Amino acid sequence: MTFDLNHTKSLFLKKCFIFPLNSLLFQSVFLLSTIMGEIIMSFADKKLSEIAISIPGSTALLREYDLDFCCGGADTLGAAVAEKNLNLAEIEARLTELQNSKKQDDEQRWLTAPYADIIEHIIHRYHERHKQQLSELFVLAERVESVHGDRDDCPIGVAAEIQNIYADLTSHMMKEEQILFPMIKMGNYAMARMPIQVMEHEHAEHGEHLDVLKALTNNLTPPADACNTWRALYSGIQEFMDDLMMHIHTENNILFPRVIEEGSR
Ligand SMILES: [Fe+2]
Repeated sequence: MTFDLNHTKSLFLKKCFIFPLNSLLFQSVFLLSTIMGEIIMSFADKKLSEIAISIPGSTALLREYDLDFCCGGADTLGAAVAEKNLNLAEIEARLTELQNSKKQDDEQRWLTAPYADIIEHIIHRYHERHKQQLSELFVLAERVESVHGDRDDCPIGVAAEIQNIYADLTSHMMKEEQILFPMIKMGNYAMARMPIQVMEHEHAEHGEHLDVLKALTNNLTPPADACNTWRALYSGIQEFMDDLMMHIHTENNILFPRVIEEGSR
């Protein structure tokens, strides 16, 4: 057996430098790709149909960029964006914002926040959002009803019900924004008691509208072969319902009791 000095040197170099360097390089690449994956690549590899269904409000955004999540739903966002030469980072930032908007509801801080802050939150987070949601849901509902109207399980009447909700809700929100909220901001708490009762009664009526939507949509359960628009309609209605419940909760259970208590002192 011969002792090969060069071979031994080569093994020594590999053990001491090359393997650790490879390992370090691998770990760095892994770490970098993990970080990049969260910040930059979070939606590029997702199918348009997945985005439309899983991110509430994304259907309006996708339509804005003319990204087809219905017939072209199997394409990834990255591929579709590249084909249309759009700005991927911009679209991903907006999708991230939509996804995170549900996590911004920190009801605890509204228990002690100034009334002006709560009111601003209600108007920005709920009133403005409801108008966008209902406009988009109406478009989706009309599309589903016109394309699938011959099916027994087609949710006929959902578009009309969404229109009813839009009319009732916009009238309700206008009363809050123009009468009740300014009254509260001016400190007329005792005077606010009566309009608050009216608003609470209207909130109960909103709840009845949601029951109608549930009844028309088999409790928001799409059939197994439902198209992406149909599924996006139901997930969008679910998001609207969740938001409306949080909206009513913030008023009925947090803002209104604080104002009534202060008015009775
Ligand atoms: Fe309200």
